[in-house]
Amino acid sequence: MKMNLFIVISATAAAIFRGVAGTQLPSQAVFIDPRSFAVMGPNADFRNDSFTQLFNPTSTTPPFFQVFDERFLTILGESPSIREIASNATFAFAHEAPIYVNETGEVFFSSNDGGPLGFSNLFENNVVSKISMKDVETALAANASGPVNVPVIQLNLSDNVQMTNGGTGPYNSSLVLVTSGRGSLPPSIVLVNPLPPYNSTVLLDNFYGRQFNSLNDIKIHPTNGKFFFTDVDYGFLNHFRPAPLMPFQVYQFDPETSVVQVVADGFNKPNGLAFSPDGNISYVCDTGASGGFLGDNGTLPATIYAFDVDPVSHAFKNRRVFAYVDAGVPDGIQVDSDGNIYSGCADGTQVWSPEGTLLGKFVVESSSPSNLGTAEMIFTSSPNGLVILAETKMYFASIAAKGVPLTGPT
Ligand SMILES: *[C@@H]1O[C@H](CO)[C@@H](O)[C@H](O)[C@H]1NC(C)=O
Ligand SMILES: *[C@@H]1O[C@H](CO)[C@@H](O)[C@H](O)[C@H]1NC(C)=O
Ligand SMILES: *[C@@H]1O[C@H](CO)[C@@H](O)[C@H](O)[C@H]1NC(C)=O
Ligand SMILES: *[C@@H]1O[C@H](CO)[C@@H](O)[C@H](O)[C@H]1NC(C)=O
Ligand SMILES: *[C@@H]1O[C@H](CO)[C@@H](O)[C@H](O)[C@H]1NC(C)=O
Ligand SMILES: *[C@@H]1O[C@H](CO)[C@@H](O)[C@H](O)[C@H]1NC(C)=O
Ligand SMILES: *[C@@H]1O[C@H](CO)[C@@H](O)[C@H](O)[C@H]1NC(C)=O
Ligand SMILES: *[C@@H]1O[C@H](CO)[C@@H](O)[C@H](O)[C@H]1NC(C)=O
Ligand SMILES: *[C@@H]1O[C@H](CO)[C@@H](O)[C@H](O)[C@H]1NC(C)=O
Repeated sequence: MKMNLFIVISATAAAIFRGVAGTQLPSQAVFIDPRSFAVMGPNADFRNDSFTQLFNPTSTTPPFFQVFDERFLTILGESPSIREIASNATFAFAHEAPIYVNETGEVFFSSNDGGPLGFSNLFENNVVSKISMKDVETALAANASGPVNVPVIQLNLSDNVQMTNGGTGPYNSSLVLVTSGRGSLPPSIVLVNPLPPYNSTVLLDNFYGRQFNSLNDIKIHPTNGKFFFTDVDYGFLNHFRPAPLMPFQVYQFDPETSVVQVVADGFNKPNGLAFSPDGNISYVCDTGASGGFLGDNGTLPATIYAFDVDPVSHAFKNRRVFAYVDAGVPDGIQVDSDGNIYSGCADGTQVWSPEGTLLGKFVVESSSPSNLGTAEMIFTSSPNGLVILAETKMYFASIAAKGVPLTGPT
């Protein structure tokens, strides 16, 4: 995509930016002043497909940091970097369910379940893998710049883990996975031992005897310790689950009593979810614009909604729009310790202030018809930063921002 009618010259932007922030721009960052593209003119090359035509007016080669607001510099810190840490051109091994286990210094994640290059379908399960953050640190230090390729180790999980699509924790020293199920095998919440033999225990696989459609993502509330998860029809839209039989809703589950109940409905396709650090606000992504075999539809939601979490019932109340994304759909979502919101979009990880202002992006994809997007990311603390899952690639951004420390039973 060309945007030559409003090209922002990086050096000029940096000069303007220094004027505003009084700070030097980090080397992999470009500043794009919203005033520089507010008016594009009648003959400009407007984007009409947010999945394959991405916003890159400086034509910078990914990976890089796109800065729209000086608050993003605080998130990045003094000497940030963003680099590819693993890749496999023929396998979307890095899709969702990222979980950082600090004790072993490993990040766990799942491959694409049913999407392009996922190699999973009605007849074949997807794969959960892990990567060592110590190995990442060593490989990055050994090569001053550019990509490195750190080994990714596939786990052998038992058959009760079918089509892993979301994850969080650790909880009680276990990974918490949600699965979409496969064929007649039910979607579920499963605890998995992060150490060999990676044994697992199913915590929930039905709603009073009815199967869920295909569970998508899960988070543990930071103060009440309940599990919250989304259920949607992507298993059906990816041809590995039957047609949906229940509304697409958000549920809470008490891991001690096994009580399950609905906390929100009214979505097109509820997907990633997260809580503010104090647990009072919930965020739910609606990826309605991405329709599986029905195709993409730009008039449907690509929207993050915010809610107040009722302190007693935990129902999600006072629904409002938090952000509408400009690239693809907001899939997985994470919150940093300052309450900024991160979501995986078509061009990379986008970041908003708690008021919903787009501060900047970790751009990892360029415009391309074959762009698979980025679905999820996770904070790590040793080394500190953000691991970004981009289907056939993984990236590590070394930044100042931190994840929210786990509270309650971990
Ligand atoms: C989208 O943009 C392309 C290239 O500018 C153009 O060929 C196409 O007709 C446009 N589609 C719509 C629906 O406007
Ligand atoms: C990519 O993944 C596939 C499937 O696991 C594997 O067979 C292949 O060896 C991998 N390629 C590389 C270069 O790692
Ligand atoms: C993570 O592990 C490192 C040692 O690998 C330790 O120094 C650090 O305190 C741990 N951080 C947290 C948040 O547990
Ligand atoms: C460092 O880069 C070189 C050249 O691209 C590559 O051959 C090598 O594998 C890289 N080292 C690591 C640790 O990834
Ligand atoms: C998974 O099983 C294969 C085949 O038995 C084995 O080679 C591999 O080491 C196992 N992977 C892990 C992470 O244990
Ligand atoms: C794995 O097996 C060990 C030993 O039996 C058990 O203590 C642990 O609870 C199991 N973990 C899961 C997640 O099932
Ligand atoms: C988590 O650990 C606590 C303390 O050991 C235990 O009481 C509880 O049953 C565990 N929860 C689950 C879901 O296993
Ligand atoms: C897109 O979604 C809108 C709203 O549901 C619907 O009216 C329209 O028919 C859809 N367009 C396509 C091409 O499916
Ligand atoms: C968050 O909710 C708790 C429990 O209702 C309340 O005590 C606290 O004041 C709330 N915090 C904010 C910032 O609203």
